[in-house]
Amino acid sequence: MKRVALVTGGSRGIGYGIVKNLAELGFDIAFNGIRSAEFVQDIIENIKKSGVDAIYCQGNIALKEDREKILQQVKDHYKRLHILVNNAGVAPAKRADILTASEQSFDDVLSVNLKGSYFLTQAVANWMIEQKTADGNFSGSIINISSISAIVASVNRGDYCISKAGISMATQLFAVRLGEYDIPVFEVRPGIIETDMTSGVKEKYNRLIENGLCIQKRWGTPDDVGKVVGAIAEGNFPYSTGQVFMVDGGLTIPRL
Ligand code: NAI
Repeated sequence: MKRVALVTGGSRGIGYGIVKNLAELGFDIAFNGIRSAEFVQDIIENIKKSGVDAIYCQGNIALKEDREKILQQVKDHYKRLHILVNNAGVAPAKRADILTASEQSFDDVLSVNLKGSYFLTQAVANWMIEQKTADGNFSGSIINISSISAIVASVNRGDYCISKAGISMATQLFAVRLGEYDIPVFEVRPGIIETDMTSGVKEKYNRLIENGLCIQKRWGTPDDVGKVVGAIAEGNFPYSTGQVFMVDGGLTIPRL
């Protein structure tokens, strides 16, 4: 029986890059997003071309009832879950200086990027413990997509940076808590990746990349992140729980 992966925000951008890689590696797929199901039928068909099963679990991960609905759908359809990829995330609706940025933006960003992922992880962790207890050969793992913003300060989107720093600590917390069950938890930290999220700041990053911001002089792609997540999901890092995988083209290497 194939292993099953749930990817939040998996219908576009980095999430879809992850879904495609996992499908090619032979994982059955559950992918979540906000759009209603009729808009993702072509995506389901595309995933199935890799010879795996695929279901769409519509729902807002910031909401408890939606998180329960998403997991229930995975339980009803697959009855098992091996990999959770916490990818869904939002940028602030408007970038604003931390001297003036609103509480509303803070709540909006934190509720999706941190609270949503954290409590989805809690629920999945409990289900993985049940699966491991029932079957000693069960092998699960949890992969969090954070950002270089976890460690690089951008004063015009403090809420986003804080949410990603929080994901880093959540990774370590769950790595520690799930250690006794041999369920590793990892953080993947992308740099500047070409997606809808960065389309509004394309000119700015084109210029910065041209001027040497990254050592590898190009934008990152969803496939760059998907390949790393695929390697982790396959179990290639069995003694590395809690670790961070950089996917930033060398952006965060300090240079003189
Ligand atoms: P995107 O905006 O293209 O895609 C985000 C996906 O998450 C969409 O499918 C959206 O529907 C989904 N989503 C948003 N809020 C949701 C919610 N409340 N419930 C369920 N799904 C929700 O963004 P992108 O660039 O693909 O980002 C994916 C992840 O990677 C995010 O966590 C982002 O913070 C992170 N990231 C992105 C970088 C970039 O340069 N694009 C760099 C570093 C990290």
